[in-house]
Amino acid sequence: MGSQGYFKVLIIFVIAFIGSTQAELQLGFYAKSCPKAEQIIWKYVVEHIHNVPSLAAALIRLHFHDCFVNGCDASVLINSTKNNQAEKDAIPNLTLRGFGFIETVKSLVEAECPGVVSCADVLALSARDSIHAIGGPYWNVPTGRRDGLISKAADALRGLPAPFHNLTTQLSIYGNVGLDANDLVLLSGAHTIGVAHCSTIATRLYNFTGKGDTDPTLDSEYATNLKTLKCKNINDKTTLIEMDPGSRNTFDLGYYKQVVKRRGLFQSDAALLTSPITRAIISRQLQSTQGFFLEFAKSMEKMGRINVKIGTEGEIRKHCALVNA
Ligand code: HEM
Repeated sequence: MGSQGYFKVLIIFVIAFIGSTQAELQLGFYAKSCPKAEQIIWKYVVEHIHNVPSLAAALIRLHFHDCFVNGCDASVLINSTKNNQAEKDAIPNLTLRGFGFIETVKSLVEAECPGVVSCADVLALSARDSIHAIGGPYWNVPTGRRDGLISKAADALRGLPAPFHNLTTQLSIYGNVGLDANDLVLLSGAHTIGVAHCSTIATRLYNFTGKGDTDPTLDSEYATNLKTLKCKNINDKTTLIEMDPGSRNTFDLGYYKQVVKRRGLFQSDAALLTSPITRAIISRQLQSTQGFFLEFAKSMEKMGRINVKIGTEGEIRKHCALVNA
């Protein structure tokens, strides 16, 4: 090859390298285009979280439901229209909270740099900051996600795990988005905060096999307590129960402690005890909070990368609930 040939090869490598770096999320993606964006988000989250600590649970769940359906592209935030039932209105998403908060954060960032920071990044950063602000783990949030144009309720039904799923089904849903058994156990650890509606465990408590029975894998004393003090009948749609009783706003090992006592609220939580592999991952978490935080951070960063849109894909929405005109 002559010197011209070498030159051509070099150019191709340089172009491929630039292409590959641009095709990735990166830490501080907005450092030049909107240098204050991350600071604005952190400040607003910190200022507000102490009045509403339960928001951290709402935001991390919102981020999770976003990422599992069409990737982390804020498609979960889009409103339904006359012709389209959006993800937001799919059954598993009817109990999501925090939409208004994200819209407010986005408006602050828009005021600083219009049309620059995506709703998907605002959500990913707000979720991370809120968990950190309540004393939970911190994880890296590389940015540069773009907002999706499509949001379909049917995709949410297909893509999200349900509280009645067994381990095989959960692993397959996680596998579809590139996550493994370790991620499943770690991310489920987020159930150390937040609340659930009685309706999510009504069948488990009152009609497990269609004979008016209770799921035998749920600790019987706990089941009785839930039935007498919280979810008093099978039709209760409004009462809220803590997933980690007594520490619903504290990010700790409480969830895993509950699960090993057979007090995990959902069948999907109990299912983590059904294989030696997932059991071992739980036991490892129970050894140290610090270890749990580090592993949780890794899985969250991985989750935040699911099928992201980058470069010229999608758009930067002006309002998170609406695709740009
Ligand atoms: C593994 C499969 C999972 C299933 C089946 C599942 C299911 C559920 C259900 C049914 C609720 C209760 C909703 C309600 O009744 O209001 C809930 C709440 C919650 N989930 Fe999950 N979840 C899973 C994984 C995750 C992951 C990966 C995260 C985050 C990383 C997460 C974070 C939360 C939080 C924080 C809440 C409380 C929300 C609030 O207080 O509003 N979950 N989950």
